[in-house]
Amino acid sequence: MNKIESRKDEHVKISLEEDVAAHHNYWDDVKLIHNALPEINEEEVDLSTSLFGKTISAPFVISAMTGGYNKSKKINENLAVAAEKFQVAMGVGSQRAALEKPELIDTYGIVKDYDIPLRFANIGASQIVLWGHKKTLENASKMIDMVDADVFMVCLNFLQEVVQPEGETHAKGCFDAIKNLADDLDIPVVVKESGAGISFDVAKRLSTTKIAGIDVGGAGGTSFAAIEHFRSKMINDDLYARGGQTFWDWGIPTPTSILEVGKATDWKLQIIATGGICNGLDAAKAIVLGANAAGVAHALLKPATKGSDATISEVDIIIKELRAAMFLVGADNVSKMAEVEAELWI
Ligand SMILES: Cc1cc2nc3c(=O)[nH]c(=O)nc-3n(C[C@H](O)[C@H](O)[C@H](O)COP(=O)(O)O)c2cc1C
Repeated sequence: MNKIESRKDEHVKISLEEDVAAHHNYWDDVKLIHNALPEINEEEVDLSTSLFGKTISAPFVISAMTGGYNKSKKINENLAVAAEKFQVAMGVGSQRAALEKPELIDTYGIVKDYDIPLRFANIGASQIVLWGHKKTLENASKMIDMVDADVFMVCLNFLQEVVQPEGETHAKGCFDAIKNLADDLDIPVVVKESGAGISFDVAKRLSTTKIAGIDVGGAGGTSFAAIEHFRSKMINDDLYARGGQTFWDWGIPTPTSILEVGKATDWKLQIIATGGICNGLDAAKAIVLGANAAGVAHALLKPATKGSDATISEVDIIIKELRAAMFLVGADNVSKMAEVEAELWI
């Protein structure tokens, strides 16, 4: 295993074995107002929706997690089985590892064997800065082919990079790199955070580009600072272990980030809400606040390492909970969720 492969392996292992969640889940601070007279039938609730021009059966995204080392192929396959079964969207983890070592392509490419209605390619933003525009377009085309992607995701993960011993903290030129990519790529580009959220100001700047959407990737769920804290502890690197601990809860809460991004973009960009969504009720809250879909990563990781049945069962439960929540607020389709009231304590 090269360095990138072991890092990917360690990220998954640490996420499974240690408690890497933020110390507060902000979804607990959002309450949907119960409708005692919903006047709809639960079985008639229609969860289908359109995301980046594709129809998905529920506003649900299996968020980017893995690929790039041998064992990740099975994890991606189990996630893909569930994405196909429920006709929901799916992302893979950063595809850099396979660009550098083509033998690893099928750890991501396995998702092409499944009929998934919306697939996301994924790369870290610091990579596209380092590559420059021409190489980024060449590599983007390889990544898109690798998973037959409908949408290209650029992941902003500077929190993780700054608390990681081998982190790449090249953020200068990142905005232009995203802007140029969105100008020239022939599939939609989505900018995604990975646990620290997108502010009003950043969303406003991004809205001047041709990106199609934002995955707010807010704080309150998996903390990459926590993951890097444990990685640094494993190699007795006290400096970085300390940094990971200090920045454990850094970031904009996911519910806040949805509202800020929506306001900054006049709700014109599609929004995915990832970060701390543990069940279908959290997903319903995200949709009520204005997200077009809810993304789940960590809650699916353990089932995905167990097998396809466990993954199917978890996605099934989340979607059933989402349906139940929609019934209890009297929304018989996804667009009606925009009219539902919520109380916020954030
Ligand atoms: C093990 C692991 C690996 C991840 N790798 C990536 C990645 O390569 N690219 C990315 O955009 N996000 C990545 N993420 C971030 C998730 O997509 C998501 O934004 C974050 O985990 C918050 O969601 P959660 O609280 O449901 O876990 C990863 C998450 C986990 C747990």
